[in-house]
Amino acid sequence: MQCIVIGVSGGIAAYKAVELSRQFILHGFDVKVIMTEHATHLVGPATFRAITGNNVSVSMFAEGSAPMQHISLARDADLVVVAPATANIIAKMAHGLADDLLSTTLLATRAPILIAPAMNLDMYRHTATRANLEILRGRGVNVVGPESGSLACGEEGEGRMTEPARILDAALEILGHDTRLSGRKVLVTAGGTREPIDPVRYIGNRSSGKMGYALAVAARHAGARVTLISGPVSVEPPGGIELIEVETAADMRREVMEKSKDCDVVVMAAAVADFTPVSLSEEKIKKEGREGLTLELVPTSDILGELGKDRRRGQIVVGFAAETEGLLENAAKKLREKGADLMVANDVSIPGSGFDSDNNKAALVFADGRVLELDMMPKGELAAKVWDMVVALLESNDAQ
Ligand code: CTP
Repeated sequence: MQCIVIGVSGGIAAYKAVELSRQFILHGFDVKVIMTEHATHLVGPATFRAITGNNVSVSMFAEGSAPMQHISLARDADLVVVAPATANIIAKMAHGLADDLLSTTLLATRAPILIAPAMNLDMYRHTATRANLEILRGRGVNVVGPESGSLACGEEGEGRMTEPARILDAALEILGHDTRLSGRKVLVTAGGTREPIDPVRYIGNRSSGKMGYALAVAARHAGARVTLISGPVSVEPPGGIELIEVETAADMRREVMEKSKDCDVVVMAAAVADFTPVSLSEEKIKKEGREGLTLELVPTSDILGELGKDRRRGQIVVGFAAETEGLLENAAKKLREKGADLMVANDVSIPGSGFDSDNNKAALVFADGRVLELDMMPKGELAAKVWDMVVALLESNDAQ
């Protein structure tokens, strides 16, 4: 497991380092936090301890702490991230000062260093700070931000710490992780919808959610910011992803239409109900005195069709086609009718593939007529293949 040492210095943005620690944990890193004494006045070490599961180091000489803590932390780190980095810690780093645990660790480490400056506009503009940052850059220290916006001091301008998700992306890039979807926003739908008949019954679509969740996780691993809109599923919610839970096709449509507006990619992996009861019985429908029961159903809106027809420029739309016969022809027809760029076509009649299974056998059908027939593979692997194709489509859109 790779280890990130996060150095938290005493800026108001110290509270954002809590979210940053959480994001690294969700990405599977071991996170060790060093706080400066000033930072402890802004956020409690207990918060970081609870999130990271590791002790938080503040002082070189704390009772019970290891004698050569700065050396062990410096060696453990695959990357040291200083967030927020105040003008003071930047100055200390630039001049090799080592008067507390964080500055000493920074001097002792051989790991790459990433800093996220955060300070008042005038402090950031000051010739001293500018010169110190130049020294650090020249030494190979990575700097992310700061951003412009409203500052804690009430002024507007450059000095805000970069958002945790972007600091994480920068860290992943330094560590050589996949960043092909960095800076992209993607929306994935998963699971089946439930159309209520009465307070206890519904019409549902078979779907474990495994494929959609695998797609969301794979997109996050490639650096995307991911929103997952999910019907009820049997899988655990993945970390580092915005999860919106819905029940009905109408709920899913509303959320997808709202959330897709600023997304670069939308993948409709959900099994959306095609029909919904015309009316919902307020009371439980009783069996007594009934020979049978006829339900009147009306069609739901075709979300993928709507997305395909009315999309923002350059947005990539991917659909799924679950078929029991005529797989490629039906998928190509759906692609044309719904205006998608890519359809992932599943033959759901194959045993061990599709619904509830961990594997899937699929063919990828493209708008330009290309067809890529894939072998049976784990859903995680298929998800990675789908993103390979989407990355290529995004790049060709960017080139136009
Ligand atoms: N889909 C959707 N909205 C619906 C129904 C389906 O967005 N109301 C999406 C699914 O998420 C999937 C694609 O459309 O990405 C194809 O779904 P599928 O059920 O295979 O196709 P349908 O269009 O419903 O056609 P049919 O059920 O007749 O095969």
